[in-house]
Amino acid sequence: MKKKSNFKSILKSAKKNIPGISGLLGKRPDMFLKDDSWPTFYKKAKGINIWDLNNKKYFDFSMMSAGTCALGYADPDINKTAMRVIQDGSISTLNPPEDVELSELLIKDNPWADSVKFARTGGESMSIAVRLARAYTKKEKILFCGYHGWHDWYLSTNLNSKKNLDTHLLPGLNPLGVPKGLTGTLIPFRFNNWEDLEKKVKKFAPKCAAIVMEPCRESLPDKEFINEIKRISKKNNCVLIFDEITSGFRLNSSGAYKQIKVIPDIVVYGKTIANGIPMGAIVGKKKIMENSLKTFISSVFWSEKLGPACALTFIKKHKKNNVSKKLILTGKKIKKIWINAAKQNNLQIKITGIDPLASFKLNTKNWPATLTFFIQEMLKNKILAQDKCYTNYMHKEADIIRYKDSCEEVFNRISILEKKDKIVENLNGPIKEMGFNRLTN
Ligand SMILES: Cc1ncc(COP(=O)(O)O)c(C=O)c1O
Repeated sequence: MKKKSNFKSILKSAKKNIPGISGLLGKRPDMFLKDDSWPTFYKKAKGINIWDLNNKKYFDFSMMSAGTCALGYADPDINKTAMRVIQDGSISTLNPPEDVELSELLIKDNPWADSVKFARTGGESMSIAVRLARAYTKKEKILFCGYHGWHDWYLSTNLNSKKNLDTHLLPGLNPLGVPKGLTGTLIPFRFNNWEDLEKKVKKFAPKCAAIVMEPCRESLPDKEFINEIKRISKKNNCVLIFDEITSGFRLNSSGAYKQIKVIPDIVVYGKTIANGIPMGAIVGKKKIMENSLKTFISSVFWSEKLGPACALTFIKKHKKNNVSKKLILTGKKIKKIWINAAKQNNLQIKITGIDPLASFKLNTKNWPATLTFFIQEMLKNKILAQDKCYTNYMHKEADIIRYKDSCEEVFNRISILEKKDKIVENLNGPIKEMGFNRLTN
């Protein structure tokens, strides 16, 4: 007999013991549903399927763990590598040779670079890149665009105005706990925005250690815009840092920057680089990277073996199986599903994002309520859904058809309720918390 679920008691205890329940904002149940119906915890995950504490099986068409496992959950090749590493000792007083093999592979794939450092999470990898840029240029200010982690250097943006991160992350973020001494060190500019490029980037670049940006957000940047960023960074001795933590390994088997043919000084990879095993890589030019020995950058777990071993397995499999082609193709299908389901039901829809990470927004009177209803109804069909979808190598045709049928059904219900102004009335709980602006605007 199956063990009786203790979901309710675990949720109760989590609410009591763990602020926000999850270590990741995007995995807090309130980001999906606020009525305790979101499964919240999982027992097992395989491919695109997740089993909750009641052994109920779901199909993940939402964040796929924030895009950390492009090959699917519990990929057999990654698992094989991970188990071998654990059996042979995942850490010791000596270092893993996999670090060296991975550095060779990353330098081969980013041939303008000649030095690599490893970390384990995206935010800390970005902190390293920024520290290196400051150490190299002896300048303090940073021009940036987009999201780059939770650390003080980044959140200090909001010290002089709580609105500074509104279009980069979330509206009104409070930089509580961030030293006031960092005020004015971060200067935000908007992606692909010529006005900001003229007024901010050109003005502040001489004082800046780095220009930090994702080379691809909702879309790739205009060629002239990104060329101009590169020209300004070179002219003013600013380190150009491309954050590929989300965009990497989606459009090709390396960085999205390859599509725009602009070379940075440092590129940072994270998230899916080891398919769910913590790993981060800072890849850059030696003259900048060697400053890691002049300042102090060091951490015990940056020397363990699981991360680099699984990253090697991931990158090799990604290339061999042309994983990005599949991610793009599936993304195109998902976009089409949303467009057709909206059209069939006379709903106006806006689609944004690159194919492997697309999002939609329906033009209804109350979008947060509509989205809550969408998630609630998709969950009844055992689909974990959001207004965005990280496509996955394991999204099979039958899964996509299941998602399509479900979208059509739920969009139809939305259309009927919208006409009667009854969406809020049909919610089982309060309206969900809204997520990252950067993925929806
Ligand atoms: C572009 C980008 N940079 C940095 C980060 C921070 O990475 P982590 O959450 O692993 O610290 C993220 C995470 O979503 C990201 O998308």
